[in-house]
Amino acid sequence: MATSGRKVCFMTGASGRLGSEIALSVAGQGYSVFFTWHSSEAAAAGLLEKIRWISPESGMVQCHMAKTGEITSAFATFREQFDRLDLLITSASNFFSTPLPDVTEAEWDSLVDTNLKGTFFTMQEAVKIMQKQPFVSRIIAMTDISAELVWKNFAPYTVSKAGIRHLTRIFAKTFAPGILVNAIAPGTVTINPDRDMDTAEEMIRKIPLKRLGDPLEIVRTIIFLLENDYITGQTITVDGGRLLQ
Ligand SMILES: NC(=O)c1ccc[n+]([C@@H]2O[C@H](COP(=O)([O-])OP(=O)(O)OC[C@H]3O[C@@H](n4cnc5c(N)ncnc54)[C@H](OP(=O)(O)O)[C@@H]3O)[C@@H](O)[C@H]2O)c1
Repeated sequence: MATSGRKVCFMTGASGRLGSEIALSVAGQGYSVFFTWHSSEAAAAGLLEKIRWISPESGMVQCHMAKTGEITSAFATFREQFDRLDLLITSASNFFSTPLPDVTEAEWDSLVDTNLKGTFFTMQEAVKIMQKQPFVSRIIAMTDISAELVWKNFAPYTVSKAGIRHLTRIFAKTFAPGILVNAIAPGTVTINPDRDMDTAEEMIRKIPLKRLGDPLEIVRTIIFLLENDYITGQTITVDGGRLLQ
């Protein structure tokens, strides 16, 4: 059990391209970081090694976010190692295209269960711990500007991300004033050539600031939320103006 008095962050999906940058920066802010991974064991192990250089009491656990039993087990493992929870970041996310007429039930479940159901039950587990603590704690959920766009090839994904925006508001109102709950909606920061339908050039054409985002810009938004005690229930868009189009 870690009782060093350091702040503690539980983060899902830290093995991701953007998620790993976020996890490292949170460690750099003085938090011990306990994170989940799903299929990328080598990436997760490499990340943990880096995080432990900054924050030695950090740890990780495998967790399938679509399975509530695995979320409960991940929190049980967390509780064996840590006696406090200052920050939850929900970043785990499944993403692939699903042209609208042909969406299957399995695709819908894979996207919506991982992204939305998983976020809900992760938040629920976190607030069980946070509610009992005599200090303010925080939840930051990663959503996506696509929740505000109409993408016919990504309906289950965008619906799951829109749901996260709404969960943010419900949890913020329900658990104020002890828990501050906010979300971040990035535009395109990293490109996944296997899964994105547009090329980088096509994406940049649609962005008024004429470039993709930098992970550092998302990290700075997280640090801003960590330093602010009077924002809750908000989704902060970091998209270079993409939603203006
Ligand atoms: N990167 C961007 O440009 C961008 C833009 C808009 C929004 N966002 C949002 O920002 C967050 C971080 O993005 P990212 O770039 O780090 O995403 P990413 O590279 O696609 O990584 C996804 C993460 O989610 C985990 N994951 C996927 N399916 C899972 C499942 N069934 N159970 C548990 N974990 C699962 C992955 O774990 P494993 O690899 O271990 O399987 C990985 O850690 C996401 O919520 C994303 O939607 C990102």
